[in-house]
Amino acid sequence: MPDLRGIILAFCLISGGATLAAEGAPPTDSPPAAAPAPEAPVDPIVARGKYLAAAGDCISCHTRPGGAPFTGGVGFETPFGSIYSSNITPDNETGIGKWTAADLRKAMHEGIAPGGKHLFPAFPYTAFTKVTDQDVDAIYAYLRTLKAERYQPPANGLLFTMRWPMMFWNALFFEQGRYKADTSKSAEWNTGAYLVEGLGHCGACHTPRNIFQAEVAARAYAGGVIMDHVAEGKSRRWSAVNLTSSKTGLASWPVEELKSYLKTGASAVAGTFGPMNDVIVNGTSQLTDADVQAMAVYLKALPAREQEGQPVSAAEAQAGKPIYDKRCSECHQAAGEGGLFSAPPLAGSAIVQTADPASLINVILYGPQIPKGVDFGSWETMKFYGDVLSDADVAALSNYLRGSWGNKAPAVTAAQVAAQR
Ligand code: HEC
Ligand code: HEC
Ligand code: HEC
Repeated sequence: MPDLRGIILAFCLISGGATLAAEGAPPTDSPPAAAPAPEAPVDPIVARGKYLAAAGDCISCHTRPGGAPFTGGVGFETPFGSIYSSNITPDNETGIGKWTAADLRKAMHEGIAPGGKHLFPAFPYTAFTKVTDQDVDAIYAYLRTLKAERYQPPANGLLFTMRWPMMFWNALFFEQGRYKADTSKSAEWNTGAYLVEGLGHCGACHTPRNIFQAEVAARAYAGGVIMDHVAEGKSRRWSAVNLTSSKTGLASWPVEELKSYLKTGASAVAGTFGPMNDVIVNGTSQLTDADVQAMAVYLKALPAREQEGQPVSAAEAQAGKPIYDKRCSECHQAAGEGGLFSAPPLAGSAIVQTADPASLINVILYGPQIPKGVDFGSWETMKFYGDVLSDADVAALSNYLRGSWGNKAPAVTAAQVAAQR
């Protein structure tokens, strides 16, 4: 793989109430007694653009909580200050009303907006560069059909008022170019690769970054760390798991379960509960079965990349057993096999074994935040334990999970738990 997918801060995620733009017939002037006016025929290119915009999850990053869809203003917290997403509705003043289709291509493929303005890779053009001209044009056609909304996002933090340094960053870390099919692989694998590497921008969160915040190609999909946007000015740290077929990644996931997870948010091996909520609800759940299946096939074929770090010792692991037996085994079962009240297995779990334990600690402290529409088929679900377990308890419990049933991951400290509170 080329040394492509850099991204400065693609700490994505956000926006509680984001939903896809309302569907259905526009209001009509017909008198109430008249037969309903026939719906305006939807241009197939616009319909395709809407589908592709879902695949790219544009709405999650471009809709602040309470704001109109696609009007931007979502704040991304980075080590270098805050940066806000743009209004991409067709408003002439505050949005992209004056943009041509070629302008959107240049932005998606090169990270350059009209006037030579260098965009920051919090906008994942490092992945979108792989998207075909035709598909970008379809997204453009769809964006043109949105209602023009006047809204000016807040100004960026000081460092992000300077855009010229991106020239150097791009020269070092960004390789532009459309997706090239690998003819030695199946058509399904290629479709999956196109979606995962391009619009899906899965690596933006799941690939670790170097100190310049560029994705490290040699460790693609081996697990990254991101910040979300829990509330105004307050974001929480999360670890995005190792998606490769390593034992600490998706080795134990059948393709069928991975497909179910991406399509519905629930599966027999894991459920969504953090930043994946928006990715799934606004993104992958909107895709066809065939496309999600292709993504699963591609992910399952990723070469295994083991994670670094000395695993917890058996002795360190045992201290947390009484807490597990008392509070967790009811649902996740004595050997971590899961099953009761739809609790997923913890043996072989990627969340449990991710080197950076942020997401594991979050689910214990705060419980799973299960989005509307995701159904585990059980009336009882996991609660939060932040009030009844101390930092030392959560560390001991995490170590029990990380050192039992064949799981292998570095030890968690009470200080790491405290940092997530
Ligand atoms: C991971 C979050 C994220 C995703 C996903 C995302 N964007 Fe953005 N986008 C941003 C941010 C942040 C900016 C502001 C970048 C800057 O100011 O340099 C931006 C800027 C833009 C701009 C430049 C607007 C301008 O006026 O300069 C366009 C166009 C755009 N996005 C379109 C899209 C489209 C289309 C999609 C879906 C295919 C999308 N974005 C998905 C975060 C995102
Ligand atoms: C009432 C049953 C129940 C109890 C008790 C329970 N859980 Fe869960 N747990 C669940 C369910 C259901 C999910 C899936 C929710 C989701 O992912 O959105 C889950 C998810 C998880 C996950 C995320 C796994 C993944 O891959 O999705 C972890 C880790 C976890 N639980 C650990 C624990 C620990 C540790 C305890 C004890 C402190 C505990 N659970 C107690 C039902 C339970
Ligand atoms: C905004 C950052 C972000 C993006 C983009 C993202 N992920 Fe995730 N992913 C996470 C985080 C954080 C978790 C940990 C659990 C959660 O959030 O529910 C995760 C967990 C997962 C899991 C494992 C769940 C488990 O319980 O073991 C899979 C599989 C996954 N992501 C696949 C994908 C795919 C495929 C894409 C691209 C379509 C993607 N992710 C894009 C952040 C992201």
